[in-house]
Amino acid sequence: MRKIVIALDGYSACGKSSTAKLVASQLGYTYIDTGAMYRAVTLYFYENYIELTNPKAIADALEKIEISFRFNPNTQHSDTYLNNLNVEDEIRKMYISERVSPVSAIPEVRRAMVRQQQKLGKKRGVVMDGRDIGTTVFPDAEVKVFMTADLYTRAFRRQKELIEKDEIVDLDEILENLKTRDRIDTTRAESPLKKAEDAHFLDTTFMTVDEQVEYVLQLATSSIIQINKIAKPLEI
Ligand code: DC
Repeated sequence: MRKIVIALDGYSACGKSSTAKLVASQLGYTYIDTGAMYRAVTLYFYENYIELTNPKAIADALEKIEISFRFNPNTQHSDTYLNNLNVEDEIRKMYISERVSPVSAIPEVRRAMVRQQQKLGKKRGVVMDGRDIGTTVFPDAEVKVFMTADLYTRAFRRQKELIEKDEIVDLDEILENLKTRDRIDTTRAESPLKKAEDAHFLDTTFMTVDEQVEYVLQLATSSIIQINKIAKPLEI
């Protein structure tokens, strides 16, 4: 059976990754969290004092960064590894959220990440969430959804996630962080966050995660049926 690419793009904290994880597990597809890749690069730059204004230091650092995803049987999801070290918890912390958008706006960083993401999805059968999947990484994705939600709803959701990880952050601080990231992500020169013309628009403000999953699964199922009807029989 031919597999498809599902691209879920949109603003931070509007339910992309929760939806993507569940859609991927229902379909038996691989989930790729592209935001985690930019967060891992940010952690590396932070720990190694890489200046964002120094192109040579950035290019050298990118050569040394290896990002991978490995299945965690305890959570039943993949964890992010940076140079063979599990950084899943560290990259979700607030100090990384505060630094990630400027890092992800650097063209050299984007080019390196996009290349890796295209490699990871080459065989299709992936659900990728991010900002530029439907526009730049996989413009030919069979299913594209652009997700958004009311700013306060997003901030509450993010605060709840952080509390679950024992990080107490003031709501105002989260609101400011989301606003700043929205601004940087939508206005950067290289592949800014924007809806692909052929993406379905989904406002999740009043939706549960299950409803979001159902919405994407319906689109995915009809696309899988369609491409497999028109596909030539597999040559064995
Ligand atoms: O999805 P997230 O909040 O973990 O993403 C962190 C940051 O990474 C986000 O502010 C913008 C950037 N990002 C990006 O530029 N392109 C992507 N495909 C994914 C994330």
